[in-house]
Amino acid sequence: MLLGILLSFAVAGTSQAQLTPSPTYSPPSATQGTASSTSSPNAQWADVLGNALWFYDAQRSGHLDEGAYGNRVSWRNDSALDDGSDWDTDLTGGWYDAGDYIKATFPLGYTMYALTWGALTSGQGYDLANQTAYLDGTLRWGFDWLIKAHPSDDTLYVQVGDTTIDNNYWGGDDDIPTPRPAYPINDTFPGTDVLASTAAAFAIGSILYSGASLNVSSSFSSASLSNTTYSSVLLDHAERAYNAAKTTLPWTTFSESVPAASAAYSSSGYQDDLCVSALTLALATNQSQYYTDAYEYYQNFSLTGSQKVWNWDSRVPAAYVLFVEAALARPALATAAGLAVNLTGWQTEAEQYFDAIANENLQKGHLTKGGLLYYQDDSDSVSLQPAMAAAALLLKYAPLASTSDKTSSYQSFAQGQIDYLLGDNPMSVPYIVGMHPNSPQNPHSAMASGGDNINDIRDDPPTELHVLYGAVVGGPLSNDKFWDYRDDWVQSEVALDYNAVIPGIAAMMLVNGSSDPFYVTVQAGTYSTPSGQPCDEALPCSGGLSGGAIAGIVIGVIVGVLLVLVALWWWKRDTIARWWRKGYTGPRK
Ligand SMILES: *[C@@H]1O[C@H](CO)[C@@H](O)[C@H](O)[C@H]1NC(C)=O
Ligand SMILES: *[C@@H]1O[C@H](CO)[C@@H](O)[C@H](O)[C@H]1NC(C)=O
Ligand SMILES: *[C@@H]1O[C@H](CO)[C@@H](O)[C@H](O)[C@H]1NC(C)=O
Ligand SMILES: *[C@@H]1O[C@H](CO)[C@@H](O)[C@H](O)[C@H]1NC(C)=O
Ligand SMILES: *[C@@H]1O[C@H](CO)[C@@H](O)[C@H](O)[C@H]1NC(C)=O
Ligand SMILES: *[C@@H]1O[C@H](CO)[C@@H](O)[C@H](O)[C@H]1NC(C)=O
Ligand SMILES: *[C@@H]1O[C@H](CO)[C@@H](O)[C@H](O)[C@H]1NC(C)=O
Ligand SMILES: *[C@@H]1O[C@H](CO)[C@@H](O)[C@H](O)[C@H]1NC(C)=O
Ligand SMILES: *[C@@H]1O[C@H](CO)[C@@H](O)[C@H](O)[C@H]1NC(C)=O
Repeated sequence: MLLGILLSFAVAGTSQAQLTPSPTYSPPSATQGTASSTSSPNAQWADVLGNALWFYDAQRSGHLDEGAYGNRVSWRNDSALDDGSDWDTDLTGGWYDAGDYIKATFPLGYTMYALTWGALTSGQGYDLANQTAYLDGTLRWGFDWLIKAHPSDDTLYVQVGDTTIDNNYWGGDDDIPTPRPAYPINDTFPGTDVLASTAAAFAIGSILYSGASLNVSSSFSSASLSNTTYSSVLLDHAERAYNAAKTTLPWTTFSESVPAASAAYSSSGYQDDLCVSALTLALATNQSQYYTDAYEYYQNFSLTGSQKVWNWDSRVPAAYVLFVEAALARPALATAAGLAVNLTGWQTEAEQYFDAIANENLQKGHLTKGGLLYYQDDSDSVSLQPAMAAAALLLKYAPLASTSDKTSSYQSFAQGQIDYLLGDNPMSVPYIVGMHPNSPQNPHSAMASGGDNINDIRDDPPTELHVLYGAVVGGPLSNDKFWDYRDDWVQSEVALDYNAVIPGIAAMMLVNGSSDPFYVTVQAGTYSTPSGQPCDEALPCSGGLSGGAIAGIVIGVIVGVLLVLVALWWWKRDTIARWWRKGYTGPRK
């Protein structure tokens, strides 16, 4: 007993000391990506984890030195130091969302959720890689900004920066155009979705920082960065944001309330956000009222049976896993709410979702020839995010599955997607920047590119100035082809949410003692630019014709022929009429 108490003090002491990175980490050169790891833990997976977190440092806005361990990205400058001044609020800090300079709260909620959930599941992996201090710094950088953006219960700044101004700028972080207006939601212009999604992020953050790991499965472990002060701050924001989202009526998407902030991330609904935030709060507080809410949202909004992707706009898949986690780790929640714990029922709900993926039985999804899980529509503008989100959920859920067959089927499907990401694909490209010589060289990132010529983003400068280590790019098209063009934002853009599940996946591989990531076996120099043009949303085709264009031409030709016939008839109508009459008046049998 005494030993236990002493041990827990020792553990608490260690976790605080880890807030200072030791040893410090900087990404190795991409040429290291062909070196098989001989150490345990696997050095390559440790680098995937380290680089995927490093990417978030490269995306920082504001005073770069303010974080726990300072600025690791030598080529970045302090920037956007007046953000929020139009509302007399300090909105400096946080991260630029993607390849440009917008700060966007709705996708950030998903990013924080996914990053934190990974750390709650495979926390030990961060310790093995000596990355826990960087994890702590990364999470705090995001949460600290969300705290600033949530100055009162029902007010949340949902975007900083004007999309139109931003879209007309391509250049460094030292010349970001102004004004950079901030857009709030509040009690008169509510954003139920963004408030609830942010509440969910705060709530899961409070669980992680509370140090109380969710005892879901013996293979799960929580990252050792507990700080009960910080946990309480996050929980306070979570409860106030959630209750404001729930009680500010009518429920409204932020896109409806703040159209100016909907150009980049137009939300399709708040139902999923309400459910996931209530359920996460139930896990964070043990209060059954939150569980009742979550259960009722699930029923009232018919969230069962969805096949949607897991992304910034779509949280239902997370709810499937969370309900199973709640049944396992906090059965008292359901009981206190007067509901059945129903582990088997919630497993059925989750496995409906995962079986459809693992058995390739999706209404709007399929595997590409090269083996990438591809969803019509969702994957058209970013192909790797939906596949990696599915892989992360499958790996997380696998140990909780109802049968061992399902456990292995989910794990092997997920492994296939992760291998694809890391080079087991027709292009032989590991799609994480700076990981391997074949990694993309031209991520669509104004900061990293060193360019300032918006009319020649692709080739000016010919070589990207900085290596944006750890960034997952948008990914290949549905034909598995990948054009490494800097101006093709569909394939080459980077974003906070594209990276969000990668640290957790790498941490799980480290916990599991997995062998090298696939890219180690990929031969350097085997990527070459495909022939032809990409023909995607970013670079629509001028030479080749899309399906729509072909249909247009066919219709045009038919209409043209009809018009000619009508004109002929008009011109020769007297002749035709005479012939017609003759036909009738002619001799009959
Ligand atoms: C973690 O740090 C220890 C102590 O400095 C070191 O021996 C080990 O190699 C590091 N592991 C990794 C994966 O960086
Ligand atoms: C940082 O500022 C310097 C000096 O103004 C500039 O040359 C450089 O391009 C900036 N860095 C980035 C990433 O924009
Ligand atoms: C509430 O939000 C709307 C939409 O962003 C904004 O126009 C309005 O000024 C805000 N009201 C207050 C009191 O801040
Ligand atoms: C715990 O978090 C609080 C709030 O962020 C911070 O002020 C404090 O320094 C942290 N304590 C440790 C030991 O890191
Ligand atoms: C919730 O309950 C679990 C299991 O009984 C316990 O470990 C945890 O500390 C509780 N959390 C709170 C915030 O009360
Ligand atoms: C679910 O719907 C019922 C019936 O309309 C309603 O009474 C209840 O408040 C709803 N639950 C939630 C959490 O909105
Ligand atoms: C987790 O802890 C709770 C509370 O002690 C217990 O009821 C539950 O059975 C545990 N779950 C697992 C999977 O160990
Ligand atoms: C358990 O969950 C299933 C959903 O798969 C549902 O059909 C069933 O009614 C639930 N049972 C109870 C007792 O709540
Ligand atoms: C963990 O390792 C075992 C044994 O090598 C393997 O069967 C399993 O699929 C791995 N799990 C994950 C999540 O990679």
